[in-house]
Amino acid sequence: MRAAIIGYGRMGREIERILLERGHETGLIVDADNAADLDARHLQGIDVALEFTTPATAYGNLRTCIENRTPVVSGTTGWVDRLGELQALCRERGGALFYASNYCLGVNLMFRINRRLAALVDRVGGYRAGIEEIHHTRKLDAPSGTAITLAEGILAETPSLSGWANYAPGIGRAAHRTETPEAAADTLVIRSVREGDVPGIHTVTYESEDDMLQLRHTIKNRRTLALGAVIAAEFLCGRRGVYSMDDLLRTVE
Ligand SMILES: NC(=O)c1ccc[n+]([C@@H]2O[C@H](COP(=O)([O-])OP(=O)(O)OC[C@H]3O[C@@H](n4cnc5c(N)ncnc54)[C@H](O)[C@@H]3O)[C@@H](O)[C@H]2O)c1
Repeated sequence: MRAAIIGYGRMGREIERILLERGHETGLIVDADNAADLDARHLQGIDVALEFTTPATAYGNLRTCIENRTPVVSGTTGWVDRLGELQALCRERGGALFYASNYCLGVNLMFRINRRLAALVDRVGGYRAGIEEIHHTRKLDAPSGTAITLAEGILAETPSLSGWANYAPGIGRAAHRTETPEAAADTLVIRSVREGDVPGIHTVTYESEDDMLQLRHTIKNRRTLALGAVIAAEFLCGRRGVYSMDDLLRTVE
C-alpha cells in the first residue's frame, strides 16, 4: 500500500515507522509548512491517507482527500461536530473515510465494556458516574475525544443523565489538579487533567455512599495508536464508505 501522511508530528512520525515495518510505502508527507501539497496532483497514486493534524485543519484536509477520492483514515480530535457533514459528503462522492477518536484496540474494548457496565449500573442504581481523562500538556482539546465517546456510551444507557459537562481546571494555562465542583445530578462530569507527557489515561468511576468501582485504561506509548491507525488504513484500502473501529473489530470477532 502507498500511503500519504498528513500531519508529520508525533503521530505522523510513529505512523511512518509502522508503515515501513509492515511493508508499506510512504509516498507523500504533508505538514504545516507544505500544506499546499495536499492536492489532486500529489494525491495521485496514493492508496490511502492518514490524517493526524490539528482541530483547525482536519476538516479541510479530509474534505480534500474525499473530493479527490483518496481513502482517508483520520484521528484528529477536537473538531468532530463537523464529522457528520464529511461522512455525508463521503457517501455522496463515493469516497472512503475511517474515523476513530482513539485507535488503541484496548480503548475500543473499553468502549464496549463501558456501555455494558453503564447498563448494569443503571439497573442496580445508587451510583454516580464520573469520567477523568489525563493527557500530556501539549494536547489542544478538552475533553479528549475518547472521554466524549465514553460519556456518550454512558448517556445512552443511563436515562436519568441528560448530558455531560467538562471540568478542565487550568487547561490553556498551567494544568493543575483541583477538586471537581458539584454538578447537577443529571449531568455526567468529565474531568480533564493535563500533565507531563502522559499519552492517555481514561477512568470511568461509579461511586455510591459505600463503595467505588473503576474502569481504567492506560496507554503506555503512542505506538499502539499508530499501529491501530495503520491497521485501519489496511482495512480501508480498496473500500468505499464510512467506517469506524466497530467495523474493524467486527472483522476479528
Ligand atoms: N485518534 C487517535 O487515536 C489519536 C491518537 C493520538 C493523537 N490524536 C490526535 O491527532 C492529532 C495530532 O496529534 P499529534 O500528537 O501527532 O500532534 P502534533 O502536534 O505532534 O502533530 C500535529 C502536526 O500537524 C501539523 N499540521 C498543522 N497544520 C497542518 C496542515 N494544514 N496540514 C498538514 N499538517 C498540519 C503540525 O505541523 C504538526 O506537525 C491531535 O488532534 C490529537 O488529539 C488522535
